Amino acid sequence: MIELRIRLLQKQEEIPYQLLLLADPSKKNIDTYILGADIYIAEKEEKIIACYVLKAVNSNTIEIKNIAVDPANQGKGIGKILLNNACETAKKNGFKNIIIGTGNSSIGQLYLYQKAGFSIINTVKDFFIDNYDEPIFENGIQCKDMIVLSKTLEP
Ligand code: COA
Repeated sequence: MIELRIRLLQKQEEIPYQLLLLADPSKKNIDTYILGADIYIAEKEEKIIACYVLKAVNSNTIEIKNIAVDPANQGKGIGKILLNNACETAKKNGFKNIIIGTGNSSIGQLYLYQKAGFSIINTVKDFFIDNYDEPIFENGIQCKDMIVLSKTLEP
């Protein structure tokens, strides 16, 4: 069993850019969406090894803007734990839906999110071409479109 402590990052604590940049290569984008967002960190033996960012879209819907596990700890079920924790946090805060966006090339993430109960609701054509300075490639596929997935939070 992994001993993980998940908690809200306090205002005076350092922003875990090293983790956030794993999920989003643009620091400029990160700096825009973390304003007014809540950053949750996961600690193992007092070391920050993962994080996620939640930001309200409106009074019913909240978005996971970023989710990342440090490479040495990936593939051990932590992503799944964070996703469930994000859903629980959103539910506790009164939200009815939670959404997450990912790239068309992010095959593993699309698998993980759908397995966790998210369904595809929208595609934003050319999002990663229009909003990023450099082309992004993953799994030998160019990341062009954003796939938006949503999950209803059962009361
Ligand atoms: N390819 C294939 N399957 C993957 C995968 C990948 N890249 N990443 C996760 N999975 C699958 C696992 O096999 C597992 O499946 P199972 O439940 O059938 O065993 C399931 O998803 C959960 O995996 P888990 O170990 O909890 O994932 P993780 O701790 O590695 O976290 C990420 C997943 C995506 C958060 C992590 O890999 C990461 O930080 N990646 C870099 C940042 C990133 O891409 N963030 C998302 C941006 S949209």
